[in-house]
Amino acid sequence: ILKRIIAIVIGYIFGLFLSGYLLGKTKHKDITTMGSGNAGTTNTLRMFGWKAGLITLLGDILKTLLAIFVVWLLFHRSEPEGVRLLELYAGFGTILGHNFPFYMCLRKGEKKKGGKGIACTGALMIAFCPIEVPIGLSIFIVTVILTKYVSLGSILGLISFFIQTVVFGELGWLDVTTAYKTEIYILAAAIMLLGIVRHHENIKRLLNGTENKFSLKKKEEG
Ligand code: G3P
Repeated sequence: ILKRIIAIVIGYIFGLFLSGYLLGKTKHKDITTMGSGNAGTTNTLRMFGWKAGLITLLGDILKTLLAIFVVWLLFHRSEPEGVRLLELYAGFGTILGHNFPFYMCLRKGEKKKGGKGIACTGALMIAFCPIEVPIGLSIFIVTVILTKYVSLGSILGLISFFIQTVVFGELGWLDVTTAYKTEIYILAAAIMLLGIVRHHENIKRLLNGTENKFSLKKKEEG
């Protein structure tokens, strides 16, 4: 259990580096008070343009991969059988740090806190089970092209992450010992549910038809 906690804490620390928020700060702006208030790729792209969105995406992917790499470095010798599980805990920790950074959660009167963990989940898929990436990414891209709703693409991508983890785990493509399978599925379900819950405002907007539509063009600040 201690190793699991260490993996989550390492992930959480890496997760605190919110690329979109830091990038906004370099422009003397607070992304959490702009657009949707989300400190992730979509909102950074929306408010600061595609280059800022790309930097945010890469930054958030990189921090997740780094967290997972550090955990792998620490434990792959002592825990050769359980290191995949610990990698998943590291990714989960990164998502927690990204979605609930303590320095934002402590701010009084602020409604918006952190990001929604989609880029982090994508990075987790790259590191944990790369075979999930083309399918998850295709579902995301096709949804966004057809509906123009990034949030819907993200939610379907999250669901595909969980389903694929179970399917590939059962097919034996996940290179994990049976002893850890159930825990991995529970953790994957937790990551999916957390991501969906973080989209609760988007879901409300999707249902009443007021969700923001994707555009590569920077939104004019009012
Ligand atoms: O990755 C976040 C995306 O799914 C929604 O972002 O800014 O439209 O709430 P946003």
